[in-house]
Amino acid sequence: MTSILILNGPNLNLLGQRQPDVYGTTTIADIETTCQDKAKALGVEIRFEQSNSEGTLVDLIHSAKGRHDGIILNAGAYTHTSIALMDAISSVELPVIELHLSNIHAREAFRHVSYISKVAVGQICGFGPAGYPLALDAMHQLLDT
Ligand code: DQA
Repeated sequence: MTSILILNGPNLNLLGQRQPDVYGTTTIADIETTCQDKAKALGVEIRFEQSNSEGTLVDLIHSAKGRHDGIILNAGAYTHTSIALMDAISSVELPVIELHLSNIHAREAFRHVSYISKVAVGQICGFGPAGYPLALDAMHQLLDT
């Protein structure tokens, strides 16, 4: 069965309480439930993870090789800073979809830079929590073709 790793970076554990004007009131647990339901409907398996640590995210990307067929990554603020995450993605040679709840292009200039975009297949941003099932649809289609 197709297996997709959904990886969430720093501060996303605080969704629901964190800047609700920007990120809404949906919690990470709610998002995981939505993803599990979507995965069931698509007939794929998912693993859903969150870490605040850059090194742990690198390790999770490495461990995806041979276990998962693709990665959906909301790297949070590491999106804009992390050459280590970019290199990890290049190293495992798995398709990655970059995901953000907010429209990073409509926010501060430092959020317009993404190291993840340089190695991702594509980016989904600005749709809030609905971006997660959209990304699963996109990855399912990508892996199917
Ligand atoms: C984010 C956007 C990032 O710029 C920010 O640092 C986050 C969340 C988003 O999902 O909109 O932590 O990745």
